[in-house]
Amino acid sequence: MTHENPIPPHKAETKFLKDYTPTPFDRSDIHINFDIQDVDKVIVTSTQKFKRRAGTPSEAHLILNGENQDQVSAKINGEDAKFVLTPHDMTFDTVPDEFTLEVTSTINPAGNTRLEGLYASNGMLCTQCESEGFRSITYTYDRPDVLSIFTVRIESDKTKFPVLLCNGNRTDEGDLDNNRHFTIWEDPHMKPVYLFALVAGDLAHIHDTFTTSENRKVDLYVYVRAGDEPRAEFALRSLIKSMKWDEDAYGCIYDLDIFNIVAVSDFNYGAMENKSLNIFNAQVVLADIETSTDTDFQRINDVVGHEYFHNWSGNRVTCRDWFQITLKEGLTTVRETDFAAFCMGKSWQRIQDVNFLRQHQFAEDAGPMAHPIRPDSYIEINNFYTATVYEKGCEVIRMMRTLLERTKGKGSYRKGTDLYFSRHDGEAATCEDFVKSLEDANNSDLSLFWNWYTQASTPVVTAKGTYDDNNNTYTLQLSQELNDHIKKPVPVPIVVGLIGSDGKEITEKLCYLTKQADEFVFENVTSKPVPSILRDFSAPVILKHDLTPADLRFLMTHDTDGFNRWECGQSLAMMEIQALQDNPSHTIDSKYIDAWDAVLDSKEEAGLKAQLLALPSLTTVIQSQKISDPKKADDARNALKKALTKSHSTKIRALYDALSKETHDDMLSPKAQGVRALRNLMLGYLSVDINDAVINLVKDQYNKADTMTDRMGALACVSDCETCDTFETLMQDYYDRYNENELALNKWFSLHVSANRSTTMAKIKELIQMDLFKWTNPNRVRSVFGGFAMLNMLQFHSDDGAGYKLLADAIIKLNEINPMIAGRLFTPFRPYKTYCADLRDMMEVQIKRIQVAPNLAPDLQEVIGRTLG
Ligand code: BES
Ligand code: ZN
Repeated sequence: MTHENPIPPHKAETKFLKDYTPTPFDRSDIHINFDIQDVDKVIVTSTQKFKRRAGTPSEAHLILNGENQDQVSAKINGEDAKFVLTPHDMTFDTVPDEFTLEVTSTINPAGNTRLEGLYASNGMLCTQCESEGFRSITYTYDRPDVLSIFTVRIESDKTKFPVLLCNGNRTDEGDLDNNRHFTIWEDPHMKPVYLFALVAGDLAHIHDTFTTSENRKVDLYVYVRAGDEPRAEFALRSLIKSMKWDEDAYGCIYDLDIFNIVAVSDFNYGAMENKSLNIFNAQVVLADIETSTDTDFQRINDVVGHEYFHNWSGNRVTCRDWFQITLKEGLTTVRETDFAAFCMGKSWQRIQDVNFLRQHQFAEDAGPMAHPIRPDSYIEINNFYTATVYEKGCEVIRMMRTLLERTKGKGSYRKGTDLYFSRHDGEAATCEDFVKSLEDANNSDLSLFWNWYTQASTPVVTAKGTYDDNNNTYTLQLSQELNDHIKKPVPVPIVVGLIGSDGKEITEKLCYLTKQADEFVFENVTSKPVPSILRDFSAPVILKHDLTPADLRFLMTHDTDGFNRWECGQSLAMMEIQALQDNPSHTIDSKYIDAWDAVLDSKEEAGLKAQLLALPSLTTVIQSQKISDPKKADDARNALKKALTKSHSTKIRALYDALSKETHDDMLSPKAQGVRALRNLMLGYLSVDINDAVINLVKDQYNKADTMTDRMGALACVSDCETCDTFETLMQDYYDRYNENELALNKWFSLHVSANRSTTMAKIKELIQMDLFKWTNPNRVRSVFGGFAMLNMLQFHSDDGAGYKLLADAIIKLNEINPMIAGRLFTPFRPYKTYCADLRDMMEVQIKRIQVAPNLAPDLQEVIGRTLG
């Protein structure tokens, strides 16, 4: 029984949350033998114990998931068994109540370019099983609510694959004939198959230990290619930091004697939380100060934390079905962002997170793929690892936390998570289980929050304040819009501070809006205050208020809430940019310039100051417009940037020079990173008008740079300049320095494609002809096409439509190679209806061209179907 490769893609079929039913049989144990012949041939034998569940009729079939396997045979209780294979499953007509099923098949990891299941990368073998990759390894129930104890035996050639890793503890190993060897791994924790992982290859490692608060000594390893060991140190430090943080913040203690991280070059995602064997995209593990930016280091810290935190929020307590991904991903994102705030600073981190939320999640909620944080249907689950599930899911938990902490007392959120972890340990849970734990631990009712779990779209909240000087009261009227998407009001915790005209904080309280409209009265307010509304972005809503520019300037410089200081500055900048776009001869409000100047002079710490002084990104500007013209938006934004530079050039230069003199003992402290961010921002302002002095400054910074942050900062300042050859010269230098470092080379590719130059299109065509460009390597593909379509708004939206065609061609090609990557690359096409008519029509042509490509994967069928609507 064999089938032909490549298998046809699934028919796009919609799955519904309401259809959930448990499997007819339970699978308690699974033993797998991996006989690795080579990267292109692995013989897999799985032995699984099944038991009919109570209530399952005796005539029920056993239907198991499985794909991409050859030479399939099966035995039930040791006897050859009859089965029927389709490209996607295996059916046994009748089976006993309790039985052992043995399935043997052969798989070809080297031929697996989808990078799901077991695949080859640089001569090593590794796995990615979430969500449905395990079914390409052996036939079984591939769904998260079937948990088993795993034991695994791996055997291979000893020279080619000296390192053999799997989940749990290594319980045996030894040599075999013919230069072969084996290892046996046993994982004592029940888990679903998506958390399974295997790694086989010639890898080096670094090692350290962590002793838990229960006094368990845990061996920590990071496995990398030989030579990369020093660049894994930072990730190992992050791992230790996150293990400690999780004990302190959540009481979550590690539960095995070993924890491994493996870096791989070909990986669809950032990283994966497989039990005790996390597999990471090399990009989010390997770093050194010379070739990685501060953002890279932050990302590594966040991802290492995120995957480690899944050990409890995801692994010990897993998900019942894939509709519940926010249960693990939303909660883990709360944990990740809190950990990041602990490492980097609270306001700074919050600003980063809200910026990300707005750029990605608000956009998603406003577009064709809008869905609730817990979707109720999907075609391809890979399309639902979204900013909504992650980031909005995170915000919903934060809101419940804010409410509990402010109404039930400090520590009440932790009581809830403690109950959740203890009550559901070893189970596959639902979002209801999580909310119920928060409720039960605190004797509170959070049922209104279901309106967040079940409705898509970003709520719009309007705030209107009135001061009554007779009664010394300030009244805030809050209301939310109800519409086709938000039919039932969502509960919105809005933290509000009042600031007196003397700049002193009067009071702060939680205004908890639970209906369509409500009123909140502040007593004993003796003079007219300025309200600071939605502090720390306490709810993921669009806030409309009646604050005047004067109020905003006041808050920008006086609010005690760092987030709102930033928010008010951004609002003012947006107003100026919009006015400049509507009327290019608009005179910029000098009072805004003065407020910006006050921040420039302030004692604000460098990192936060950089955020406060930065203008909203072009993407942010474009997203704020109903129908957008990227070129006009960019001109307006640049006009504001020029005006700020013009009026402050001496000060900006002085600040740049002063920051250049600062030295740091710890090159990666938040302070040192903040100083670099601010200094690069100043260089960016100075280079709005390129002249010889600026070019020298840029070259000087590039040449003397001791960090990648400074080198890239300099390059970015000249990337768009076509009247000088600085960019080309420096890029050549960059290439000469780093062409042997795959990660640094990714940056070189993305620097090229994100430059706004008349030659960029031609350059891209040249780049993808290079041997260094591989369609099968997601990082390289993302650097080029993601970098182009997401970071180069002007060239991507060029008026001849060439940018659209280029992306469509790539998507069509990748559909056959790696559908998941193809699906993700489609994202820039999603909002096509919000562009001016010429651009919109050209995008539509390309979208329709992709739609009729042969063998279109369900990933693309689903997004295209919804995008064209
Ligand atoms: N469980 C995911 C990895 C994943 C994502 C598997 C999508 C299958 C489909 C993992 O925990 C994760 O969320 N990784 C993120 C990074 C994280 C820091 C947000 C990723 O890979 O981008
Ligand atoms: Zn995750």
